[in-house]
Amino acid sequence: MNSDLQKLYQIGQKPARKIIGLMSGTSFDGLDIALCEFNGSGLTTKVNISNFITKGYEPAFKEEVKSVFAKKNVDLEKLTLLNAYVGSYHARLINEALQEWGVENQSIDLIASHGQTIFHAPKHTHPNSIYNNATLQIGDADHIAVSTGIITLSDFRQKHIAAGGEGAPLAVYGDLLIFSNDKENRIMLNIGGISNFSYLPAGRPEHFFSTDVGPGNTMIDQFVQAHYPGLYYDKDSRLGLSGEVNKQLLHCLLNHNFFAAEFSKTTGPELFNKAYLQNAIDQSGARGLSNEDIIATLTHFSAHGIINAIEKATGNINNFEIYLSGGGMYNKLLVSLIENRLKKQIKSTADLGIHPDAKEAVLFALLANEAVSGNLNTMNLASGIPNVSMGKISFPH
Ligand SMILES: Nc1ncnc2c1ncn2[C@@H]1O[C@H](COP(=O)(O)OP(=O)(O)O)[C@@H](O)[C@H]1O
Ligand SMILES: [Mg+2]
Repeated sequence: MNSDLQKLYQIGQKPARKIIGLMSGTSFDGLDIALCEFNGSGLTTKVNISNFITKGYEPAFKEEVKSVFAKKNVDLEKLTLLNAYVGSYHARLINEALQEWGVENQSIDLIASHGQTIFHAPKHTHPNSIYNNATLQIGDADHIAVSTGIITLSDFRQKHIAAGGEGAPLAVYGDLLIFSNDKENRIMLNIGGISNFSYLPAGRPEHFFSTDVGPGNTMIDQFVQAHYPGLYYDKDSRLGLSGEVNKQLLHCLLNHNFFAAEFSKTTGPELFNKAYLQNAIDQSGARGLSNEDIIATLTHFSAHGIINAIEKATGNINNFEIYLSGGGMYNKLLVSLIENRLKKQIKSTADLGIHPDAKEAVLFALLANEAVSGNLNTMNLASGIPNVSMGKISFPH
């Protein structure tokens, strides 16, 4: 038998596993690397993050990724080159992190690699075509497996699509296993480039679901990058706080059928981008807005998408807690808008033992843990989510 296959077979039988989860979202700010220690799987999963780091991407790398990101027309040679390059670049960052932590590569059971999202194309964005839901993440995991010597699972979203999903959000699986609670109704809100949440009403797993709700940071980031050379985002919402919201523009931004569509749904910067903003500005007739006013309005836009979706999901219930993760939690204006409107203090996933910057990476590590332990039945608990193991296997040899 192939020795890597034999090793994987042994890993599948272990009661506890060390798995590195990787996440690089639509913000492409950096690679989140979370070394997770799993005990058990399925409903008895316990996870502890022993090390975590976000390895920020170099500006030149960001520019390369940006050149193919969420664009309808790209240089195919560049995309081909980047698929291999992102894989080996991620491998280098993992090896660096392990060295900095003083952890031997051989002590790690698995890597769970999300890859870099390049294009997300759910069917509702091309409704009359022959094509179904689709999504593309690059950064081929063979490069990671070979360079690190660690068996790597990757490309988790394709199986979800093959089994009838949109390939996102995948958070419901991990949120269900790590964060669901019998006594407390929970919203696990992640504000990355895009905002998504899992709704976990206490003791009612058949009502659990995850959904994207609209932009998180992406439109703010894109605007800041275009108008403030050298800046990538509105740090601590300094720009947004110094501007005024424009009501007409906000109204036009919110006027899209994505917001009216039923849960679960997914979206991305393919929709929420500079062209979307320009279109809303034109429609609103708003004139003479400063850059700060636009950033303030974009921040209100993200907040409204999140607030409206939470109100819709929770209905008349007011006894729920929101646990936040993702870089958007550092945008003070965004968070205060949500708190004021919902009259609730937002908590952090840190209150539940998971570092909020690491949460998404942990969720992918969990998908790998589930894939090798084979708990297909666990996911029957929640309705409407494909009940499949996810992740493709790359061997080092
Ligand atoms: N101090 C901060 N102030 C405001 N926004 C921040 C701050 N730190 C991070 N962010 C936002 O968070 C984003 C990264 O969030 P992240 O959760 O990594 O998203 P993704 O999963 O899309 O990569 C940044 O692009 C930025 O918009
Ligand atoms: Mg990120």
